[in-house]
Amino acid sequence: MIRAAGALLKAGHLVAFPTETVYGLGANAFDSDAVAAIFGAKGRPSDNPLIVHIADYEMLVTLTPPPSALAQTLIDHFWPGPLTLVLPARAAIPSVVTAGLDTVAVRMPDHAVARALIRAANLPLAAPSANRSGKPSPTRAPHVAEDLDGKIAGILDGGPCAIGIESTVVRVLDHTIHILRPGMISAGQMARVLPADVTIVDEMAHAEQFPAAPRSPGQKYRHYAPQGVLQVFIASDLATSRARIEHAIEEDRAHGMRTAALMLTAGAANATYRVELGSPDHLETYAFHLYDALRACDRLSIDRIYAQGVKLSDKSSGIMNRLIKAAGGHVEELDVPG
Ligand code: TXA
Ligand code: MG
Repeated sequence: MIRAAGALLKAGHLVAFPTETVYGLGANAFDSDAVAAIFGAKGRPSDNPLIVHIADYEMLVTLTPPPSALAQTLIDHFWPGPLTLVLPARAAIPSVVTAGLDTVAVRMPDHAVARALIRAANLPLAAPSANRSGKPSPTRAPHVAEDLDGKIAGILDGGPCAIGIESTVVRVLDHTIHILRPGMISAGQMARVLPADVTIVDEMAHAEQFPAAPRSPGQKYRHYAPQGVLQVFIASDLATSRARIEHAIEEDRAHGMRTAALMLTAGAANATYRVELGSPDHLETYAFHLYDALRACDRLSIDRIYAQGVKLSDKSSGIMNRLIKAAGGHVEELDVPG
């Protein structure tokens, strides 16, 4: 299977494959036509650059000059894993991969199938998430089939992705790390392994300081929004958000609406569809289920989706970033100040 998929990639075809974060849609990163086909299959704007996936350090230096000490520290601690580094790009990388930027995003996935595939193709693979643009990233092979069947040469099924949200993307500068997209590897985790004089800038947390020209082109696109209206309630006491959700569902039901509840507690048994997404102390479970739950809401024609959120923190920033984007700003803090 993997050998056949590797041959397809060498021949310029597109193959979807599992990673520990989400499924990727891979093509030979050095074949402009193959990479261009990714944009066609996804319906993705061509000025949004792709992440290049590698299996070893020899592949890294075909993409970028030998990494700085700072980049090397991140590589040593977090690769293979869900951390993407934006590094200076070698001239040989087709501009369709980098969207014409002088940087390239690279990551070494922590998934046996992904790395075996990269080795079988013996090529670095440019791979965005394997969804149609505007849908949630796929965390299971059937999600990929739902979006891309008939448009790509193959799908390798590796079961559900262990993490469930996309990698943390960072731009590595001389003494500064810019978080361009938060993920399950947090600023705090990076800070613990970096020298004290390195500054970590979270561009999401400080969005008002970066109003112009987003450095990660992906930041400017409207993200997935479910067909139903998604509303997120955040309260330090989960009983508060639970009560608010149960009340809203009661009203919706009276109007004949189909409802969903994405919960961190028991309750909301009155919802048409309800999923338990773990607990505030175990946000890994939230990430694992989130995209599958949002896809289920669309399949079930849910009109109103309510989600229990958590306060923004070092650990929650990746998951809350995805939830807030999917909610298109419908986020309510329920704690009474003072
Ligand atoms: O977990 C992941 O990162 C998944 C799996 C398949 O590896 N991939 C993924 O790719 O989420 P995609 O294309 O959906 O998101 C790539 C993100 C986008 O926000 C893009 O703008 C940013 O990385 N990016 C890529 N190259 C960049 C560059 N040179 N400079 C700044 N941002 C870049
Ligand atoms: Mg994506």
